[in-house]
Amino acid sequence: MIAPSILAADFAHLADEADAVAGADWLHVDVMDAHFVPNLTIGLPVVQSLRKSTDLPLDCHLMIDDPDLWAPRYAEAGAANVTFHVEAAADMVGTARAVRGAGALAGLAVDRDTPLEPYLDLLGHFDTLLIMTIKAGFGGQDFIAKMLPKVRLAREHVTAGHLRLFVEVDGGIDADTIEAAAEAGADVFVAGTAVYGADDPGKAVDALRVRARAAMDR
Ligand code: DX5
Ligand code: ZN
Repeated sequence: MIAPSILAADFAHLADEADAVAGADWLHVDVMDAHFVPNLTIGLPVVQSLRKSTDLPLDCHLMIDDPDLWAPRYAEAGAANVTFHVEAAADMVGTARAVRGAGALAGLAVDRDTPLEPYLDLLGHFDTLLIMTIKAGFGGQDFIAKMLPKVRLAREHVTAGHLRLFVEVDGGIDADTIEAAAEAGADVFVAGTAVYGADDPGKAVDALRVRARAAMDR
């Protein structure tokens, strides 16, 4: 699945920017609070408005403090998937339950400097694992290939039947880097700059999907 990140879109025309990637699978919405990460983006009211303006499933990536309080509210606002960070949550399992109870998939995100191993046992409570392939906070950064062992580890657990979840990569994904991420076992690919920086964002989504499929088939 390809999930264009509207962080790289024109915030004054979000409905049009969503339409431009109508062939995508999820629309990735980066929520930042200037506390958990230095950057400040958008919040609940924008997600509520977006929900009314696009049919694309909303993939909300919460880079915020206190996701225990906020994550269920994004699910209630109609997000299809709500991902929060291990570094920010106090009660990961309880929050995942609340998100699922409000009708969304629950996702857990691990930032660049966070190892995956300590959280493997919790992942049975989640539908999505988001592995940051940059340091969370800003779009337009370079993909960090050193994150791929985390993707491989997650994929091994899914293949072995220990886990059932989407393995999502986020940060620096473009036509050059998507193949390595797909080969390592990712199946959801967030792309901001590579999609909205292209002349035709819709075509960029299709091109990324072709590249990912080819790598997965190898
Ligand atoms: C950054 C965000 C990403 C960002 C990716 O913290 O989580 O979703 O939009 O942007 P690119 O694709 O430009 O790296
Ligand atoms: Zn993101």
